Amino acid sequence: VKHPGAQPPDTDDLDELRSAAASCEGCDLFRDATRTVFGDGPGSADAVFVGEQPGDQEDRAGEPFVGPAGRLLDRALEEAGIDRERAYVTNAVKHFKFEPRGKRRIHKKPTRSEVVACRPWLTAELAAIRPALVVCLGATAAQSLLGTGFKLTDHRGEILDLPGFPARVTATQHPSAVLRAPDRDAAYQDLVRDLRVAAEELR
Ligand code: URA
Repeated sequence: VKHPGAQPPDTDDLDELRSAAASCEGCDLFRDATRTVFGDGPGSADAVFVGEQPGDQEDRAGEPFVGPAGRLLDRALEEAGIDRERAYVTNAVKHFKFEPRGKRRIHKKPTRSEVVACRPWLTAELAAIRPALVVCLGATAAQSLLGTGFKLTDHRGEILDLPGFPARVTATQHPSAVLRAPDRDAAYQDLVRDLRVAAEELR
């Protein structure tokens, strides 16, 4: 087999999917990353949050959104009235992609083909959970699920009901983009506003 584990097993069991994903070699990112970082949260979640890819701390911890972006996300979710414990949090790409710079590992954006290679794992998570709402955090997640024609700036904060898509879906800015924004406060408030729209949808 050229790419062991490149295809998820045909199951709705998240634990089975997680353990199969641990040995995925569906693209080259497994070579340098420490481990697969699969999604985290209850299978009963009514909302699934999808980021881009694990960062440095997620790669070490083996859990999504535990670093600086994750802390910002936690705060924004709480402010919007969404319980993170009841949400499922995952990424479009499940290995950390980086460039070594001295002792540091600098995040590198995944390519389209890496996103497409990883997408079966994301769609398997969605099929297993069957959430009411999928919240894409950033353009990479949105374009993985909605196609490269999707423009985040045109559609952030909208609740989309798309034919053929198994849940309602919405997209907002990635928490890392908020951390990098020139006006961080305004960007944070915009994120919370979009998450409140999601919270409303989940009531
Ligand atoms: N950024 C992401 O997109 N996902 C993570 O898990 C952490 C940072």
